[in-house]
Amino acid sequence: MLERTLIIIKPDAIKRELIGEILLRFENAGLHVLAMKMVQVSKRDAEKFYAEHAGKSFFEKLTTLLSSTPIIPVVLSGENAIAHVRKIMGATNPVDAEEGTIRHDLALDGTQNSVHGSDSPDSAAREIAFFFNTLEIFENREG
Ligand code: CMP
Repeated sequence: MLERTLIIIKPDAIKRELIGEILLRFENAGLHVLAMKMVQVSKRDAEKFYAEHAGKSFFEKLTTLLSSTPIIPVVLSGENAIAHVRKIMGATNPVDAEEGTIRHDLALDGTQNSVHGSDSPDSAAREIAFFFNTLEIFENREG
């Protein structure tokens, strides 16, 4: 099934100049970039984006980090893109992630884990709309 998903290149990766490395891994896996921008979100926006984690022990740290530097949200498209992207990213915590995944190879810890990816079709739709309007998404690159 052709799907879209949202990834975010997170502050720890931006600070370590890993933008190209991360995008290359997704492109080499056959995913297509439909939209991309660099933005810095407020703490309040970070809390809204991660609302499903409100109340968890790591929420404060997570939202402070996400709003600490510019980030790069990207819309990716491809066959089963949501699961495919999650496989390329690896488990949330780099110590649990398989060798060769982004988080195993690049992440610093369970919070500073370099990249975010949507976990379901509903969250992909919500997260894409959080960052992009329809004019910013290039459908003709879908595939
Ligand atoms: P992400 O895929 O962006 O989605 C939620 C984020 O919360 C996750 O990546 C991590 O950055 C963070 N996170 C999830 N679980 C934990 C945890 N147990 N401890 C610290 N941070 C976590």
